[in-house]
Amino acid sequence: MKRTHHCGQLRGSDVGKLVSLIGWIDSIRDHGGILFIDLRDREGLTQVKANPNSDDSDFNATVHRLRDESVIGIKGVVEARDGDNVNATLPTGEIEVEISEVVVHNISETPPFPIDDEKGDRVNEDLRLTYRYLDLRRGKMRRMLKLRNETTKSIRNYMDERGFYDIETPTLFKSTPEGAREYLVPSRIQPGHFYALPQSPQQFKQMLMVSGVERYFQIARCYRDEDLRADRQMEFTQLDIELSFVDREEMYSIMEGLMKRVWKDTLGVEIPTPFPRMPFQEAMDRYGVDKPDTRFCLELSDFSETFASSSFKVFSAAVKNGGVVKAFKAPTLANVTQGELKNLEEVAKSLGAKGLAFIKIEDGEWKSPIVKFFSDEEKATLQEKLDLEEGDIVFFAASEWEQACAILGRIRLECGELLKKRGKLEIPSDQFDFLWVVEFPLMTYDEEHGRYVASHHPFTSPVPEDSHLLDSDPKRVRGQHYDLVLNGVELGGGSIRIHQADLQKKIFEDVLKLPADVVESRFGYMLEAFKYGAPPHGGIAFGLDRLVMILCGMSSIREVIAFPKTQKGQCLMTESPSPVSEKQLKDLHVETTLLGKEQ
Ligand code: AMO
Ligand code: AMP
Repeated sequence: MKRTHHCGQLRGSDVGKLVSLIGWIDSIRDHGGILFIDLRDREGLTQVKANPNSDDSDFNATVHRLRDESVIGIKGVVEARDGDNVNATLPTGEIEVEISEVVVHNISETPPFPIDDEKGDRVNEDLRLTYRYLDLRRGKMRRMLKLRNETTKSIRNYMDERGFYDIETPTLFKSTPEGAREYLVPSRIQPGHFYALPQSPQQFKQMLMVSGVERYFQIARCYRDEDLRADRQMEFTQLDIELSFVDREEMYSIMEGLMKRVWKDTLGVEIPTPFPRMPFQEAMDRYGVDKPDTRFCLELSDFSETFASSSFKVFSAAVKNGGVVKAFKAPTLANVTQGELKNLEEVAKSLGAKGLAFIKIEDGEWKSPIVKFFSDEEKATLQEKLDLEEGDIVFFAASEWEQACAILGRIRLECGELLKKRGKLEIPSDQFDFLWVVEFPLMTYDEEHGRYVASHHPFTSPVPEDSHLLDSDPKRVRGQHYDLVLNGVELGGGSIRIHQADLQKKIFEDVLKLPADVVESRFGYMLEAFKYGAPPHGGIAFGLDRLVMILCGMSSIREVIAFPKTQKGQCLMTESPSPVSEKQLKDLHVETTLLGKEQ
């Protein structure tokens, strides 16, 4: 039986037509001998009805066997529903189909959880992932898959219109252990040699620029062996882009156009451009992170000067040691419960804080274990700078600058959540705050290894005005890097690259202090390539999963990936990773001895 219509298609104007539909039984209800079946396919639901006590005994027997989630085809005439029975919430709610013929493709056993938007959301995630094929039948998940498809279609159209070639790059790559840990793949043909799965197509896309491709993009799978979180998977998808003869301004404008197009095509929403820009330093100072959620305030202030010689030693010592004292106020949150406060303190401690000093303004008083150490002048400065009012709470962090920012940045987000819970902060679900974060330092100093490391990757070009500091004061050199942040999520990042062999070599060897033989074995081909007419170029990569997550209004990328891995890196449906046979290992010239942990 072939369908004439899909299950979301029939309307009042179709009454009287003989139609056939195929789909899954969403539900069966017995209303006084007549069975009402909601038949579902990926486009929608149609109510069909059958009389199991008809003159046709075969038909009756078939209908009696039907269960939820069985796959059937039906033929019948479209009927108008009586006024009272019209279902205004369903696009097909004006009609129903009286079944005259039914074909059973498959009778389903009772599924392990209800295929239902709301009930399904309450099901344990592991169970959903074990039976992902059932989970994906839910309307919500189907809409997500559709929106993801619309997103990539919109991206491809935009890129194509602007002359970008879609080019695939290898997923069996070479190990270049900078950045996240890599996945290794043993080679059978080259005993003792390994491929690595790429963390991104970075080096290949730069080689494509040297090849004269000029404009490249790819929807590319990337692999990083890092701790998984709500917005991090071990394998994830990037929209990867690179172009030649481009500067930062042109990059911003093309990417803003892309975001505008995607939002318009998928959600029908006009997003205003150009996006605001904020230097890294300012983002850290005001929001405590390099990916600020600018949809709400609670901005941080600096009180280092105020407390530089305070008798509260925790604060004055931090400043003496070259650190800072930072604070922010959360209006109306003096009513935090003991439990909530304890939790905030735990969060601060997990980031290395020794404690989380606070002041509550309650009953006209400053309530706090530390306020007794403050001078009148210190209090007056706090009052004036923070404009404190009854019901406010102030949180402090005294530490080295980056750590103090990170601690209060997290506490700020936690306070945002507490305010939302209390109905004191409302963020519309259709608010999209895009922000370019720019002027990142090119390098950061790695205390542990006693050397500089690239803040992003070693191919980022320094800001020309700062290049002269590369030898004398590398940490003051800004990179031509940019991150696109959306609602506090790092959506993408990229840079204008180094395209000169001598500068690239200098960065590797003199600044990052990589030994010459390591540079040669890992990046030799790249330095060689740059000798043969490398064009100036730059690029960016967006986390496609994160982008779709935000478009779908979800808070985890697992919700927008068809077959994601769990927190422990497992695919519960196929049960991977799994042990392999001795023979397989032998073929790969590999022997395993598990160190430390039990198998
Ligand atoms: P970067 O490492 O910043 O840049 O990655 C680009 C974007 O990819 C997304 N992303 C992730 N998404 C899900 N799970 C992960 N584990 C994960 N890691 C990163 C983020 C991030 O902004 N080659 C450079 C780009 C360039 O310079 O052109 C790169 O990979 O949204
Ligand atoms: P202490 O004198 O160590 O008992 O600390 C007094 C208060 O300051 C306690 O509430 C601590 O939680 C808090 N505190 C301690 N160290 C810091 C710090 N580096 N930044 C902010 N608050 C702190």
